[in-house]
Amino acid sequence: MSESRSSFHAVYELLDRARTRQITEPVAPYISADELLDRIDFDLSETGQSEEQVLELLDQVAAVTPRTSSRRFLNQLFAGKDDSALAAELLTVILNTSLYTYKAAGANAIIEHTMTRHMAKLIGFENGEGVFAPGGSMSNFTAIVMARNEAMKTMREDGHDGVPMILYTSEVSHYSITKGAAMAGLGRSNVRPVACDDRGRMIPAKLQEAIEKDIEAGNRPFMINATAGTTVLGSFDPIRSISAIASEFGLWLHVDGALGGTMILSEKHRHLLDGVENANSVTWDAHKLMTVPLVCSVILVRQPGMLVKHFNEDASYLFQSDDDDLNFGTRALQCGRRNDALKVWALWKRHGDKGLGEHMDYLMSMAQHAASIIDRDPEMTLTKTPESVNVCFEFDGVSSPELCEELRRQSRLIVGYGDVEGRDVIRIPFVNPDLTFDHIEEALEEIRTVGRELRSRPQTAASEAMRESCC
Ligand SMILES: Cc1ncc(COP(=O)(O)O)c(C=O)c1O
Repeated sequence: MSESRSSFHAVYELLDRARTRQITEPVAPYISADELLDRIDFDLSETGQSEEQVLELLDQVAAVTPRTSSRRFLNQLFAGKDDSALAAELLTVILNTSLYTYKAAGANAIIEHTMTRHMAKLIGFENGEGVFAPGGSMSNFTAIVMARNEAMKTMREDGHDGVPMILYTSEVSHYSITKGAAMAGLGRSNVRPVACDDRGRMIPAKLQEAIEKDIEAGNRPFMINATAGTTVLGSFDPIRSISAIASEFGLWLHVDGALGGTMILSEKHRHLLDGVENANSVTWDAHKLMTVPLVCSVILVRQPGMLVKHFNEDASYLFQSDDDDLNFGTRALQCGRRNDALKVWALWKRHGDKGLGEHMDYLMSMAQHAASIIDRDPEMTLTKTPESVNVCFEFDGVSSPELCEELRRQSRLIVGYGDVEGRDVIRIPFVNPDLTFDHIEEALEEIRTVGRELRSRPQTAASEAMRESCC
């Protein structure tokens, strides 16, 4: 099981083919899982195969994997596109280091230090710090653990003291908040969903009401999560007003900026994060709007030492030398930790704060352009004026789930839907920097074609029921 330099050329060709396919072939061949099971030899056996056979298998897998870099992949909130970030990511695999100590990671530990301090400063955490986590969900979980431990002093050493700990988050926030509360031993029922206004933003007065009610009931409010860029509508909660409530009641304020944290770089749009400097912690995913390959998320904290306080453990077999400032394992959830810092550092070196901010402006302009076309289209209904990069709408008379599935079945587009105020609506996140206004028109034309086709099709009982529940 050794590395051979001679086989690397074949590996390079495999990677090159995969990359070319991302752009030149349909977004995904429509193949059911059953068909795939017949087509690819997934089963494992007692004896191994040759290197050539394994490369051939990998090529088969790549050929049928949905092409997330395609201009017709409009389904998810990520886009791993930037060449410098991609080069760094491939190098990361070859370097195969772990970010727990300077001893193992060398220059990469300095890069994690540089990146997290720079991002913290941009947020307004002058002396803040941070650590890379494996995704926004884990960054949010890290924040919940810190907030819980700060509010319940027995927790880290002796466990829960029995007083219900209450977490407030908007009714449309990401599911990782409820999941995190459950994983932190607090109970899903102790997460209070706070009502939103008609733009999908948490209503501060409702938050205040909920906190007062819990205090009266003898519960212990401990944390508010404000979302900067909600998953479906892309809305931003009013952070400044929420931070005033957090401060009045002495609660930990976390900002889930997994999607929208990057807007801090845009001169034009950073007002969406107004008040974020008052938060105790912020989640910021670089793999979403910043074109960095998955995964790349940072949890930032305003108060230095907070991460070490809640995550450090004695481990003389690991933390053996050097300044703990560069031994990032002392502040992470994990022990062995993938190097997610190098790729975002390479991206930042390439474009700088200014270039990245302009990129945000471009994504926002695409969303606004798409919304204006949809709004003028007599066959479509724009759900809301977009708050940021997500555009939600319906094709009139056709259920959004059915339309999305048919677009996928015909290998035209991969696009998803979400629930907004009880309706299933198509959601297009504008995260792919290769999209132009022409591509937007092409994608909408595909939606019109398939929408009309579905509308004129004789209805089955199942699709009739779907249509009635949605349209
Ligand atoms: C608002 C928000 N927070 C958190 C997450 C979770 O991020 P990740 O997928 O990186 O775990 C998402 C994912 O879409 C999100 O939209």
